[in-house]
Amino acid sequence: MKPYILGIESSCDDTSAAVLHGEFLLSNVIAGQEVHQAYGGVVPEFASRAHQQNIVPVVDQALQQAKIHKKQLSAIACTQGPGLLGSLLVGTSFAKALSLSLGIPLINVDHMDAHILAHFIRTESNPEKKVPEFPFLCLTVSGGHTQIAVVNGPFQADVIGRTIDDAAGETFDKAAKILGLPYPGGVMIDKLAVGGNPRAFAFSEPRIAGFDYSFSGLKTSILYFVRDRIKEDPDFIQKHLSDLCASVQHAIVAALMKKLRAAAKHTGIKGVAIAGGVSANTALRAALTAAGQEQGWTVFIPELIYSTDNAAMIAMAGLFSYREGHFANQGDTAYARKMK
Ligand code: KG4
Ligand code: ZN
Repeated sequence: MKPYILGIESSCDDTSAAVLHGEFLLSNVIAGQEVHQAYGGVVPEFASRAHQQNIVPVVDQALQQAKIHKKQLSAIACTQGPGLLGSLLVGTSFAKALSLSLGIPLINVDHMDAHILAHFIRTESNPEKKVPEFPFLCLTVSGGHTQIAVVNGPFQADVIGRTIDDAAGETFDKAAKILGLPYPGGVMIDKLAVGGNPRAFAFSEPRIAGFDYSFSGLKTSILYFVRDRIKEDPDFIQKHLSDLCASVQHAIVAALMKKLRAAAKHTGIKGVAIAGGVSANTALRAALTAAGQEQGWTVFIPELIYSTDNAAMIAMAGLFSYREGHFANQGDTAYARKMK
């Protein structure tokens, strides 16, 4: 019998619940939190409070949309970390209590593993979807992480490159802030870059060895460039907003693709995937498609809804653990940073 897995995600500012039947997704409900917009970034205390308010209705909706009763569930998978501890505690405590009351297993999921495993989600409307074969390369780019991994199995991501300072999403968000755009900035830059010239302005290129990334120099270069131009013309940003967004986006995407190409060349792996919030970016998706055609890679680009944080990917990672018989204990605790 195919298991029904409930996935719960609460690592940052989205409360999400999803139900999988086998690898087919039945529902994926996401409640965002607008409270953070006024502060230009996620305020951890507000995030925890909003998760508390959202968790019960979001799980109820996910079960309703999946048209199942909670008693039909086979297991509950929940994000254990990394993320904001107060936010994670809401999801993990809820999942522990529900699994105890239903007498079904609890599964801990690492958020970064889940972003990668999002590529295995299938829906009944697209049952033949092509999924990656192991090993494949995955560039995971989110608000808190930027890494290239050789994915040898569901929970065997061998990280061969990572950022030594800012994450790619963080760089998008900080650049957006410099340009006076509201949070979350990555999406705004993506939208405003449409029609802009990606080569209008050049920023400093990150120079770092191996497959690692560094974005702090690029961020500073954007900051100083804009500050100097505003001195000459206070309306500089407004006059060139589209070109500025396109150029910032181009600089970040070029840096991401450079190391991904090098990693593919070095490993000889031809299956190349992107994951995480920044994989929603139009320019990154286009650059990966173009590189795939040029290099003969098979590329895997997640649907937009599975790029940013969602519980469908948590349920999917939960399904892999369920099949391996790998379950959690009530004594396990959430973690803000990866322990491995
Ligand atoms: O994976 P995610 O939803 O949450 C984390 O685990 O961090 O990623 C959020 C990040 C934010 O920095 C956001 O600005 C960025 O992903 N992001 C984008 C786009 N959509 C989300 N960055 C660039 N272009 C986008 N379209
Ligand atoms: Zn994420």
